[in-house]
Amino acid sequence: MKKTTAAITAVNGWVPEFRLTNVELEKMVDTTDEWIQTRTGIVERRILQDKTKASSDMGAEAVKGLLKKANIGPEEVDMLICTTVTPDMLFPATANIICEKVGIRNIASFDLNAACSGFLYALTVGARMIESGAYKKVVVVGSDKMSSIVNYTDRTTCVLFGDAAGAILLEPNHEGLGLQDALLKSDGTGKDLLRQKAGGSLNPATVETVMAQEHYITQEGPKVFKFAVTKMADAAEEIMLKHGLKGDDIAWLVPHQANKRIIDATAQRMNLPEDRVMVNIQKYGNTTGATIPLCLWEWEDKLHKGDNLIFAAFGGGFTWGSALVKWAYDPK
Ligand code: ACO
Repeated sequence: MKKTTAAITAVNGWVPEFRLTNVELEKMVDTTDEWIQTRTGIVERRILQDKTKASSDMGAEAVKGLLKKANIGPEEVDMLICTTVTPDMLFPATANIICEKVGIRNIASFDLNAACSGFLYALTVGARMIESGAYKKVVVVGSDKMSSIVNYTDRTTCVLFGDAAGAILLEPNHEGLGLQDALLKSDGTGKDLLRQKAGGSLNPATVETVMAQEHYITQEGPKVFKFAVTKMADAAEEIMLKHGLKGDDIAWLVPHQANKRIIDATAQRMNLPEDRVMVNIQKYGNTTGATIPLCLWEWEDKLHKGDNLIFAAFGGGFTWGSALVKWAYDPK
């Protein structure tokens, strides 16, 4: 029998209804629709307005829809990994809470934090669990309520992020489809350039940390941009070279959606035309752990069995990487 690989067998996404447009942001901070569109590609982003709801609620909606699409019950899932930088709380893990909300019990569930590269990391971990033979149905969900850590008086960050969740189901495959390879990287020297400074063990919440606004995300955008634009393209190119693939061999680039210019630079390095690059940043902004599964959800009807997909991401840490995935099913 052929080696067991881990294939994506279902995808789903969930986005809140409320749209925060660039025009609305013009009234909140010193910015313009023109600046945001030309520098980032973003037109609007979704915001979870209900203060009683958190990342787990969005994640649970994405997972419930995923199980429905896959026609399986919660009792059949044997592992759930949630990637998020906006957990409901530091512990218990948001993955545990999603399971509780979906009715999944007595399985392995945990959070994985690799910032905007989280989905790539979680996909790889989930796939390795399937390949080991120990697990048969692994759910990977990226869910981020970025609006809970965004400072809506800081124009350098508030225009970038949105709220959403995306989920995939991984199952064993014996036709060689699914995850072929992943290159995962990190460099902690980037730790001060993109972060939420307070709320952890280094700077626990105090009146002072709140007054200093240290519970919000901060980013030295142009410095991060320089790393991101090079590293994401490097990772995509490296995995193509490793597998002897040229632009023509790739059906789709599925990039993390942080900035349209970073996506364009990656596609250019891969020799891919625009019409083979998944881009929905204009509608959702940067939804951190959810960007890649949201793209797969939106493009699912255009994907065919055997298609070569390159996933690529860059995020806080720094973390970055790429994955080569052979799509496992035709449009349903
Ligand atoms: N409106 C108007 N002006 C702004 C805005 C805004 N919303 N935001 C910043 N500016 C200003 C800055 O204050 C700065 O002004 P100054 O030169 O007077 O100091 C200037 O614009 C900087 O402009 P650019 O040089 O054009 O900045 P850049 O091209 O780098 O674009 C951006 C900024 C969009 C933030 C970009 O740097 C970026 O996308 N960075 C990378 C983001 C990323 O990939 N993050 C990793 C993933 S996120 C995660 O892991 C959670």
